[in-house]
Amino acid sequence: MKRNILITGGAGFIGSHVVRLFVNKYPEYRIINLDKLTYAGNLANLRDIEHAPNYTFVRADICDLETIREVFRRYEIDGVIHLAAESHVDRSIKDPFTFARTNVMGTLTLLQAAKEYWNEAWEGKRFYHISTDEVYGALEFDGSLFTEETRYNPHSPYSAAKASSDHFVRAYHDTYGMPTIVTNCSNNYGPYQFPEKLIPLFINNIRHSRPLPVYGTGENVRDWLYVEDHARAIDLIFHRGKIAETYNIGGFNEWKNIDLIRVIVKTVDRLLGNPEGTSDKLITFVTDRAGHDLRYAIDASKLKRELGWEPSLQFEEGIEKTVRWYLENQEWMDQITSGEYEKYYDSMYKNR
Ligand code: NAD
Ligand code: DAU
Repeated sequence: MKRNILITGGAGFIGSHVVRLFVNKYPEYRIINLDKLTYAGNLANLRDIEHAPNYTFVRADICDLETIREVFRRYEIDGVIHLAAESHVDRSIKDPFTFARTNVMGTLTLLQAAKEYWNEAWEGKRFYHISTDEVYGALEFDGSLFTEETRYNPHSPYSAAKASSDHFVRAYHDTYGMPTIVTNCSNNYGPYQFPEKLIPLFINNIRHSRPLPVYGTGENVRDWLYVEDHARAIDLIFHRGKIAETYNIGGFNEWKNIDLIRVIVKTVDRLLGNPEGTSDKLITFVTDRAGHDLRYAIDASKLKRELGWEPSLQFEEGIEKTVRWYLENQEWMDQITSGEYEKYYDSMYKNR
C-alpha cells in the first residue's frame, strides 16, 4: 500500500533511526522528514539514505502553522510520526520557554494542521506521538515500575512540556475523533545521539581525557534501551497499535548512573587499548541537576503481550556497539563539538 508519512524530528537522534528504518523497509511509502535543524538536528545523521527515491527532507519549524498546512497539502500526508522536540532536561532548566513553544505549541500546530487536512475522513489516517517516561515523574528504589496507568507527575520543564503535548494529542482524539497513539519510552542509547547526553558525552570526554561530570552521588537510575529497538517498536505500533491507546516502551534494563559510567569507562579504555583503570580518575562528582528524578523504570509488558515486541539487544552488546561507533565516527563527533556548540558547552559547565 502506498502511504505518505510525515516524520518530524528526523535529523535528530531517534528520528534519524526511524527515518532510516522506514525508508529502507518500505520503498512503497514516501517518507517526508520535517525538521527545523536546531543545534540537535544534523543531516549527517542520514547521509546513507539522503538520495533514496522515497525520501524527502523539508526544513521547517513545527510551530509554523501555514508551512505545516502546506506540507500536508503538497505531500498528501496520511500518517504522522511526531518526534520533533526540545529533548535535553538541562537545557529546559535554563530555557523553559523554548521547550513550551516547541513541545507544546509545535505539537498543537501539527495536530491542528492534520485535523484540517484530514477533515474528519479519519479512515487510514494516524497521528503517532512519541513521548517519554519522564512524564510519570520519579520512582523510589522500591521495585515499582511505570505502567500506562501511572499518574502523570512531571518535574522538569522538559517533562512538563512533553506531558502537556501528550494531553493535547489525547484531547484531539477525545474531542474530534482523530486516530492518535501515544508511546512513552525510557532512555535511548546508540549511534547519532547528540553529545550533551550522558553516554556520548562521557565517551567523548574519556577519549579527550576530560572530566566526567557525575551529577550528585550518581545513584540515580535510568532504564536504557538501544535506539534501533525503539525504532522497531515505533514501526510495529504505527502499523498495528490500537487507536487511542498508550504503550510504554522500555529496555527492562535499569542501571545506576555510576555503575553505567564505570562500564563506559572500562569499555572505552579497552577499545582504545589503554590499561584498565586509566580513565577512572576522570570521574568527577558535581552539583546535582535541579529537580533530578531519582529513578525511571518502564513496565513494557503491555507492548509485549499485545504486539509481541521485546528489546532484541542485550545491554552488554549494545554498549559495546555504541562505544565502538562513537570511537570510529570521530569526524561526526568533531563536527558537532567544534564551533558554536563548543561555546555553549563551555558556558554550561562554567555555571556548575
Ligand atoms: P533530539 O534532540 O536528538 O532531536 C530532536 C529533533 O527535533 C532535532 O532534529 C531538532 O532539530 C528537531 N526540532 C527541534 N525543534 C524543532 C522545531 N521547532 N521544528 C522542527 N524540528 C524541531 O531528540 P531525540 O533524543 O531524538 O528525541 C526524539 C523524541 O523522542 C523527542 O520527542 C523526545 O521527547 C522523545 N524521547 C526521547 C528519548 C531519549 O532517550 N532520547 C526517550 C523517550 C522519548
Ligand atoms: O527517560 C527518557 C529521557 O531520557 C528522554 O525523554 C530525554 O529526552 C533524554 O534526554 C533522557 O533524559 P535524561 O535526563 O535521563 O538523560 P541524560 O543523558 O541527560 O542523563 C542521564 C542521567 O545521567 C541522568 O540521571 C542525569 C545524569 N547525568 C547526565 C549528564 C549529561 C550526569 O550525571 N552527568 C551528565 O553530564
